[in-house]
Amino acid sequence: MERIWTNGSPFGGLFEGTAWGAPSCPDAAENTAPVTLPKPSVWAEQQFNFKPARIQKQVLDSKTKRLILCCNRQWGKSSVTAIKALHHAIEHPNCTIIVVSFTEQQGGELIAKVLNFASLAGLPDRRVRGYKHSLLLPNGAKIYAIAHSADGAPSRTADIVIYDEAARVSDTVFSATLPFIAHTRGAVWMLSTPKGQTGFFYNFWHDSDPQWTRVFSTVDDCPDIPKEFIELHRKGAPQFFRQEFYCEFTPAPGRLVSRERLQQMYDPALDSRKLPPLKRS
Ligand SMILES: Nc1ncnc2c1ncn2[C@@H]1O[C@H](COP(=O)(O)OP(=O)(O)OP(=O)(O)O)[C@@H](O)[C@H]1O
Ligand SMILES: [Mg+2]
Repeated sequence: MERIWTNGSPFGGLFEGTAWGAPSCPDAAENTAPVTLPKPSVWAEQQFNFKPARIQKQVLDSKTKRLILCCNRQWGKSSVTAIKALHHAIEHPNCTIIVVSFTEQQGGELIAKVLNFASLAGLPDRRVRGYKHSLLLPNGAKIYAIAHSADGAPSRTADIVIYDEAARVSDTVFSATLPFIAHTRGAVWMLSTPKGQTGFFYNFWHDSDPQWTRVFSTVDDCPDIPKEFIELHRKGAPQFFRQEFYCEFTPAPGRLVSRERLQQMYDPALDSRKLPPLKRS
């Protein structure tokens, strides 16, 4: 069962003086006065009694604009990201944070966590017009999930794009949504458990570009997940176990040669133009 977080301390005073009634323009900001919260890891604990583990703390407090979390199932990827996104939205009036996943429903799961934390923080429960899975804050900040479709998607502008279960999001959708931050110098946060050896999540994880902050963590960092459960999974589905809990980019079932093996076989010093021409037999 999903853990229900308690409200560690009231959100008193944060939006004091704000009228919660429907504004004349539904998405208009009502109160853009600057708000400074404690850093996210401290806020999470004080506000929600959410005690982040060591690596979760690093993720929460990281200010990087290029973040990749490669972590096991049930690590807390969505919860930590939901708190991080909400913290950012409260501190940045009128900002836009868009969640992309392999289905709109999956993106909605992360929004549900945002809504849960927002409610504990005493924020009003309001939607962004036209978005079922969304939160509109009194300061005009918006967090919403979009449908997983590259076709006919209206162009949007975002300050942060979050790819939840990024390894399951197609490259087509990635290419259609990354331009949301083209003009904003916005941030990209990707969170996923590996799935196969193709796609943008795989590519960025294996790339050496130093602008990305890469966070790797396995079930060994999750003492709350009982050993007997892990053993149950290992026995029942050994072909997926190392992927799901030890975050290995294992080849898709049916693939004869792994990507690593192919790369080892490829010799970049070999110039194809110097190879002898193929002869007809
Ligand atoms: N620091 C923590 N303390 C207590 N419980 C935690 C902590 N971090 C995560 N959890 C709990 O672990 C469970 C899984 O969290 P969450 O759904 O965020 O993980 P996930 O990595 O996104 O999972 P999935 O791989 O299924 O998408 C939730 O019940 C969440 O409340
Ligand atoms: Mg998740």
